[in-house]
Amino acid sequence: MANEVESVLISQQDLQRRIQELGKQLTEEYAGRNLLLLGVLKGAVVFLVDLARAIDLPLQMDFMAVSSYGASTHSSGVVRILKDLDAAVDGRDILVVEDIIDTGLTLKYILENLSMRNPASVKVCALLVKDKARPDGINADYVGFEIPDKFVVGNGLDYAELYRNLPFIGVLKS
Ligand code: IMP
Ligand code: MG
Repeated sequence: MANEVESVLISQQDLQRRIQELGKQLTEEYAGRNLLLLGVLKGAVVFLVDLARAIDLPLQMDFMAVSSYGASTHSSGVVRILKDLDAAVDGRDILVVEDIIDTGLTLKYILENLSMRNPASVKVCALLVKDKARPDGINADYVGFEIPDKFVVGNGLDYAELYRNLPFIGVLKS
């Protein structure tokens, strides 16, 4: 599978090192709070399990699935909830965990949706953020890596549901 990758953008070692750093930072910032990691299925799962184990605090996990891409590599801008959270979030300190922020349309929709449910706070932790313009106010509070505006796979990110299990971030051969 790795031989279908044109280049490695972020190595496994660099990913793991950065995730440990984020975990330490979040451990300080969320001490004494009511932390809920909200993973956006499916792409964020691989990042979320590593991040959760790097946070030395009591926390809970919940998941939401939204669809914005279908099988294409470009955002349609149309977001649908495929699976909602299992539990209510009022009073919780929500940290939305995302694999990647591209156009920001998915995140914009999720943040608007969560704001109607009375959480104590909502912040965003994204493993990757593409270097491009986005709607106002749509950005991650915690960012693993800023990357160029290319389609990438690995560490949870897919192309047509494949490559999520690559342990690094890479660019596919075209
Ligand atoms: P956005 O709504 O354009 O910000 O896209 C968000 C979602 O699209 C992400 O959570 C990913 O699931 C998917 N996505 C965006 N860019 C990529 C990419 O380069 N590779 C794989 N999936 C991507
Ligand atoms: Mg996603």
